[in-house]
Amino acid sequence: MKSELRGDYSRAGPDCAVEQDWSRYTAEQHALFRRLFARQAKLVPRYACPEWIRAVEGLDAAAIPRFDAVSRKLRAATGWEIVAVPGLIPDEAFFTHLASRRFPVTVWLRSPEEFDYIVEPDVFHDFFGHVPLLFDRVYADHLHEYGKGGLKAMRLDAVPMLARLYWYTIEFGLMRTPQGVRAYGAGLLSSGGELAYCVEDPAPRRLDFGLERILRTSYRIDRFQTTYFVIDSFAHLMRETAPDFTPIYARLRDMPVLEP
Ligand code: PHE
Ligand code: CO
Repeated sequence: MKSELRGDYSRAGPDCAVEQDWSRYTAEQHALFRRLFARQAKLVPRYACPEWIRAVEGLDAAAIPRFDAVSRKLRAATGWEIVAVPGLIPDEAFFTHLASRRFPVTVWLRSPEEFDYIVEPDVFHDFFGHVPLLFDRVYADHLHEYGKGGLKAMRLDAVPMLARLYWYTIEFGLMRTPQGVRAYGAGLLSSGGELAYCVEDPAPRRLDFGLERILRTSYRIDRFQTTYFVIDSFAHLMRETAPDFTPIYARLRDMPVLEP
């Protein structure tokens, strides 16, 4: 495991799972989570996609959640569950979890100094950004397909291409709705600054979803995005990603990578 990653990997099993050990969160950490939640809760009615808003109503996410309790609800709704992990995990473990309808959620919480910005995902990003959408059937099925596609991309040596798709959809995706463009990407939903920016600011490009364009487009992890890709619905995303990527990877492999 890469040593520069934050988080305690010493107790992780071969699939990188750990115990959440909920009793170890301090009162200060619950309070910090609540403050993060309160800030985002003010923004999401205006900027989040309706599927996310609908799902979060059933979740008590106002303190650091107990993963096992949420997993029980998720299993009943879409057959997904949460698996606690120390932080970022290797591709194979990550794809294997998704391909088994298990979503890895980081156990640690950022420090108060990182209220506005962290580079690695923490429990707030993973839980607030990703977990609610797992209650949506189409999104849930799509992410399952993505996980299987990830294992396949490993065999085809195409993970960097497929990772761009994850970035521009699951992390930073926008969706067209009757109310206008809304965010469904977890990196947007959990961000204090970028959530309004991605919907309202005139500066960034908002391009129609284009599979091959995305597979070829690099991304920056350390600043607001300059380009977002917009889907019509999760069914649209599902449809666009359903074809066999094998010939697409082969064709795009030697083409130049595009700047965002
Ligand atoms: N259709 C893709 C393939 O054949 C798998 C995939 C599905 C990837 C959904 C991403 C999202 O590789
Ligand atoms: Co994420």
